[in-house]
Amino acid sequence: MATVLVTGSEGQLGRALQATFTTNSFLVPLFCTKAMLDITAPDQIAACIKAHGVQYIINCAAYTNVEAAEQERESCFKVNSIGAGHLAALAAKHGIVLFHISTDYVFGATTGRPLRPNDPTDPLNAYGQSKRAGEQLVAERATHFYIIRTAWLYGAQGSNFFTKMVALAQQGGTIQMVDDQIGSPTYVYDLAAAIWKIIEKIATAHGKDYLSGIYHYTNEGVASWYDFAYAIVTAFPNNCTLMPLSSAEVGLKRPYYSVLNKSSFREVFQIKIPHWKDSLAICLKQSNI
Ligand SMILES: NC(=O)c1ccc[n+]([C@@H]2O[C@H](COP(=O)([O-])OP(=O)(O)OC[C@H]3O[C@@H](n4cnc5c(N)ncnc54)[C@H](OP(=O)(O)O)[C@@H]3O)[C@@H](O)[C@H]2O)c1
Repeated sequence: MATVLVTGSEGQLGRALQATFTTNSFLVPLFCTKAMLDITAPDQIAACIKAHGVQYIINCAAYTNVEAAEQERESCFKVNSIGAGHLAALAAKHGIVLFHISTDYVFGATTGRPLRPNDPTDPLNAYGQSKRAGEQLVAERATHFYIIRTAWLYGAQGSNFFTKMVALAQQGGTIQMVDDQIGSPTYVYDLAAAIWKIIEKIATAHGKDYLSGIYHYTNEGVASWYDFAYAIVTAFPNNCTLMPLSSAEVGLKRPYYSVLNKSSFREVFQIKIPHWKDSLAICLKQSNI
């Protein structure tokens, strides 16, 4: 049985990994919250690896407050870059397969076409810069690694775009939403299930090689934040009015177009990716609306 350490297990993706793990004969998950394991403390990581004989790490630990990161660069880089680097170095030392989660915010310039894993990065904000530095440290230090860039994560629980839109719509009134930032929503359970499938494939590969590197995973399809909000608020009875807004009016430093090209993910892992509208329908059913 191989132990899979999940860091930052109380976050959105960490919880989804807990919910989607299905008991099997070859993997034992070890879910660690920040209080149990701080990824900025290499001695804690080393002790955990030694105590549990860890063979896989899924790094969900991150500093994710995009706005606050502009003022808290040091704290943000400490977790997203330096912490990721510690995990990568220790993974290499102990022959561990590392899954490191990253973001579409490593991109900045608009290409007008879905972004490939090897396209040049150009982050517009401190959070994106810290995640890019984390990716670089993982690629430099780890030997067997998968950097999975995702985007617009949401689910029926916790604080995320979906739950915020539902709460706002239930309050009524007017909701303004940017309509000039284009990307792809990602139902967090889809991403979590895909990561478990990849680990199962590697654990039962019998010599088949799944190439280390950067991969992209979001749901299929494209939307603006306005489109995504519209699909949520029109799915149940409420009295809210949704109005489009431009990014310039909000002053957010975020990419205008960050649709991720997922071809290499599909080809290498042979995992079907659901369309965001189908996954949203599942999420709506699972929420208590
Ligand atoms: N959410 C999105 O829309 C999105 C989009 C693209 C990529 N991503 C990436 O996806 C990954 C998972 O995101 P998420 O939405 O699940 O984030 P999240 O909900 O903010 O969870 C991150 C978790 O990491 C914990 N953490 C922070 N510092 C830590 C440390 N030093 N050691 C151990 N744990 C620590 C946090 O604990 P505290 O809350 O107590 O600090 C939290 O439980 C991240 O790498 C993120 O960058 C997210």
